[in-house]
Amino acid sequence: MRSAVSLRGVSFGYQPGRYVLRDVDFEVETGGYTAVIGPNGGGKSTLLKIMLGLLEPWTGTVEVLGLPPARARHRIGYVPQASGAVLDFPVSALDVVMMGLPGGRSTKRARSAALSTMERLGIAGLSGMHAGSLSGGQRQRAFIARALVGSPEILLLDEPAASVDPEGQESFYELMAELNRTVTIVMVTHDVGAVSNHVKTIACLSTVMVSHGESLETEAVARAYGCSVDLVSHGTPHRVLGKHEGRGGND
Ligand SMILES: Nc1ncnc2c1ncn2[C@@H]1O[C@H](COP(=O)(O)OP(=O)(O)O)[C@@H](O)[C@H]1O
Ligand SMILES: [Mg+2]
Repeated sequence: MRSAVSLRGVSFGYQPGRYVLRDVDFEVETGGYTAVIGPNGGGKSTLLKIMLGLLEPWTGTVEVLGLPPARARHRIGYVPQASGAVLDFPVSALDVVMMGLPGGRSTKRARSAALSTMERLGIAGLSGMHAGSLSGGQRQRAFIARALVGSPEILLLDEPAASVDPEGQESFYELMAELNRTVTIVMVTHDVGAVSNHVKTIACLSTVMVSHGESLETEAVARAYGCSVDLVSHGTPHRVLGKHEGRGGND
């Protein structure tokens, strides 16, 4: 089966000589559902931007849907990491969802596509609401609707559950499972405990790919947990990296 996402030997940094990703292999099969976990600054958001073709790796190859990522971008839905920016300008929830369409314009067709996506996510009733007055969970669904409105084959989400209250989490994971029937999902998250019950594979990234495997395999899950346990016990990503210097650490 062809992979939806395939990275081979990818290295990248924002400054010369400072690796953010080092020799990373990463594979998501079509229909897959993968969580990417790891310490702060481990390169998770950077990895998503490389899959979107927004950043060009120093070395290695990236294929998305069998194509160079920039050419596949219109077939990828992306929910960026919440910036904390206030949605203070006068846009409705419906406007936010329509931004996910090429041109982002408020044509009749765009409106009806946006509305039916919002219906699917159970937020059609919010369409006229000022985007800035949505709750965390409602805003999250509006951003997911924006990512889905163009009918992508792959959905990339960067810490989507961060701003959702605990009661909202379970219905969020139910929604993801339902979407995963038709869309390949890659989700960056801190919430290892929650995701390990839901996703099909887990990748633990700390500049190097520490582990990458089926979430149901206890050993892989344990090692994945180890990745975040290390973070708690040692404090800094560099100490975590120290353990893996055999495969290439930073600095
Ligand atoms: N635009 C940028 N310019 C320079 N450094 C950056 C930029 N974005 C991220 N970084 C750095 O790259 C590293 C990885 O960041 P990021 O991919 O956001 O990690 P994560 O999402 O795992 O927390 C961090 O050290 C961060 O400070
Ligand atoms: Mg991030």
